[in-house]
Amino acid sequence: MRQDALNPALAGEKPELYRQLAQSLDGLLGDERDLIANAANMAALLWMTLPEINWVGFYFMRGEELVLGPFQGKPACVRIPVGKGVCGTAAERGVPLIVRDVHEFPGHIACDAASESELVVPLVRNGRVVGVLDIDSPVQGRFDEDDRIGVEQLAAVFVAASGWPGI
Ligand code: SME
Repeated sequence: MRQDALNPALAGEKPELYRQLAQSLDGLLGDERDLIANAANMAALLWMTLPEINWVGFYFMRGEELVLGPFQGKPACVRIPVGKGVCGTAAERGVPLIVRDVHEFPGHIACDAASESELVVPLVRNGRVVGVLDIDSPVQGRFDEDDRIGVEQLAAVFVAASGWPGI
């Protein structure tokens, strides 16, 4: 079942929501290149705009691990080895992952017990994964292809707008 069917309020409106979000993000980041400042503002923008989410934030690659970056939501686990959990799996494969039911994902790392579904989009710079953007929802099946496409576009804006010292 598509999320649209679960939540009629979102039916058919996601592409437009993400188009507006991309515009907002562009304006919000402006000419600023600071990675942490941009990540913090982007997490806040998504937190206040996306319905039915309980966590949104960044993990950045540090060697063979992902390390927690700016986020909104409950305090989260700091280090995730590449290949572990949803975030580490998306980072290892370099592809976005939509998890309809986190309880069915082997090795899922539960930071907030309220999380039921999850979308993780790798941050790719010059062909290399430099981190991930992670979004959790308390609703099963919250994320669909429209979310993946929209969040990938937002992630691309963020990666291009920001400087990446030492990453
Ligand atoms: N659930 C993630 C861990 C990060 S938290 O959701 C913020 C995972 O399995 O990688």
